[in-house]
Amino acid sequence: MAKPCLGYLSFAVLLLVVLTLSVAEAADSAIHDTFLKCFAENTKIASAELTKIVFAQNNPSFATVLYNLARNKRYRTPLTSKPVLIVTPLKESHIQGAVLCAKTANVHIRTRSGGHDYEGVSYASKESFILLDMFNLREVTVDVKNEVAVVQAGATLGEVYYRIWEKSKVHGFPAGVCPTVGAGGHISGAGYGSMVRKYGLTIDNLVDAKIVDAKGNLLDKKGMGEDLFWAIRGGGGGSFCVIVSFTIKLVPVPEKVTVFRVEKTLETKVSAADLLVQWQKVAPTTDNRLFMRVLLQLANSEVQKGKLTGQASIVALFLGGADEVVSLMGKEFPLLGLTKENCSEVSWIQSVLWWNNGKSLENGDKPEILLNRNLNASSFMKRKSDYVEKAISKEGLETIFKTMIELKSIGLVFNPYGGKMDEISPDATPFPRRKGTLFKIQYSVSWDDPSPTAAQEFTGAAKQLHSVMTPYVSSNPRGAYLNYRDFDIGINNFGQNSFEEGKSYGTKFFGKNFDRLVNIKTKVDPDNFFRNEQSIPVRPSGE
Ligand SMILES: Cc1cc2nc3c(=O)[nH]c(=O)nc-3n(C[C@H](O)[C@H](O)[C@H](O)COP(=O)(O)OP(=O)(O)OC[C@H]3O[C@@H](n4cnc5c(N)ncnc54)[C@H](O)[C@@H]3O)c2cc1C
Ligand SMILES: *[C@@H]1O[C@H](CO)[C@@H](O)[C@H](O)[C@H]1NC(C)=O
Ligand SMILES: *[C@@H]1O[C@H](CO)[C@@H](O)[C@H](O)[C@H]1NC(C)=O
Repeated sequence: MAKPCLGYLSFAVLLLVVLTLSVAEAADSAIHDTFLKCFAENTKIASAELTKIVFAQNNPSFATVLYNLARNKRYRTPLTSKPVLIVTPLKESHIQGAVLCAKTANVHIRTRSGGHDYEGVSYASKESFILLDMFNLREVTVDVKNEVAVVQAGATLGEVYYRIWEKSKVHGFPAGVCPTVGAGGHISGAGYGSMVRKYGLTIDNLVDAKIVDAKGNLLDKKGMGEDLFWAIRGGGGGSFCVIVSFTIKLVPVPEKVTVFRVEKTLETKVSAADLLVQWQKVAPTTDNRLFMRVLLQLANSEVQKGKLTGQASIVALFLGGADEVVSLMGKEFPLLGLTKENCSEVSWIQSVLWWNNGKSLENGDKPEILLNRNLNASSFMKRKSDYVEKAISKEGLETIFKTMIELKSIGLVFNPYGGKMDEISPDATPFPRRKGTLFKIQYSVSWDDPSPTAAQEFTGAAKQLHSVMTPYVSSNPRGAYLNYRDFDIGINNFGQNSFEEGKSYGTKFFGKNFDRLVNIKTKVDPDNFFRNEQSIPVRPSGE
């Protein structure tokens, strides 16, 4: 993949819009004073230290702290609403103090770990809020003997993979492919990566968690109970608590794994559409050590100069050697035409680098790259999701490509399930898409132009393709992945219709599991202190 996880763009927004509402300002200043007084008393932090942990809007470091982990440029414009305060806890007691004192100041908090939320809900909202930024709490403690690790919420996935690799070359962890994604949001929202067919989702590989609940209690799995521990494995941390850390289960990986990338267009002898017809049969059913993602993109036509054609790129990880996967594909997926020359045998950590950047082997990337947090890097992005339950016909695939060529800007990623995913019951965790789902689709569009017209054009294109996809994807309700946050499927306005609004997006994410999530939410956070535009609603009394 030539594309790194985030584009590094250099568009300076030279707009200075100062929108001040004196009423809102007065309210903010009351929150500020009440919170600070309470927080200083509660945590016993000396006032000289306080300005290094609590950042008011007039603190010269406020913008740097806010933007370091604000990964979507759509939510870091001069018009974006900002937090009243930013709190950057150094220890657990600071989180407890922040929860209690935010309640005292009558304001809610948004917790941010890696800041990769596609709609910025961890750091931007029209509602007044305090940002609880977890970046100081990012220790990863690996215990190879017991095959577990304790991962603090503010750690990135890259840090998790690196710390495991430091201690063992035959262990790994099944989570996302972008190293700067934060553990707190990713894991509590389900999480998947290139080992999903062998080991399931990230939430299928957890043994414990430490949280601070809405009453300010610090609790582990035993203390929070089975229900809440179930809810935070995919139901979204932002609805229930502050996640302090997860205890994860390491998984075995072979010393050598194989990666490959093979591309076809609509113009090659084996066309991209034919390739995808066969891919849909093989990818969700083959040996569970093999994960074959497909990127559907556009390429320059070789036949008609100046025109675009559709391209399918198969990007794959096999937890085994090249000879074995070449022979397996020869039998099951002949249209792929995979040869040993197309494959690279690498260590598992090198495969992690390769998923981050397809040129990592040529570049000689070192694992230390995984520790790079790329602070203040962001791009304009829109993402959407879908699930496919029945293979799409060749005609359907051609229609999809035709629409993509018309729209020009948007790409799709197909991520196959099957394997371990089929073995786990749909109610084992809040994430309901197990047996019966062939693959997940991500819609992806990123751009550089900061103008509102550009944003409208690109987000509009994503919506249009989503509409054309309707006959090919899940329905009643049409499913969506919480971690691919997308406001188009509905948001909560926290008014009279809060429950109905929550039910509308909630059943898209969680299907039948939505009800249990609401029951747990109503029990552990009846005041709806932990909330965002797509959080689990509280059940109205009497229902
Ligand atoms: C470049 C990129 C690549 C991605 N790749 C993958 C992938 O391979 N697989 C995949 O499954 N997903 C992927 N995602 C999606 C990603 O999993 C989600 O965006 C995830 O929620 C990000 O977690 P975060 O901590 O970085 O985000 P944040 O923006 O910090 O948080 C996201 C949500 O979780 C809540 N939250 C965060 N931390 C805590 C906490 N400590 N306690 C309670 N609630 C918390 C926030 O309040 C917010 O609601 C990718 C996203 C990006 C931008
Ligand atoms: C973040 O990066 C932008 C360029 O993308 C730069 O203009 C800005 O000054 C940086 N902001 C902070 C707070 O460091
Ligand atoms: C795969 O290998 C064959 C030779 O065995 C080569 O012709 C082809 O270009 C390779 N494909 C890719 C995508 O590298």
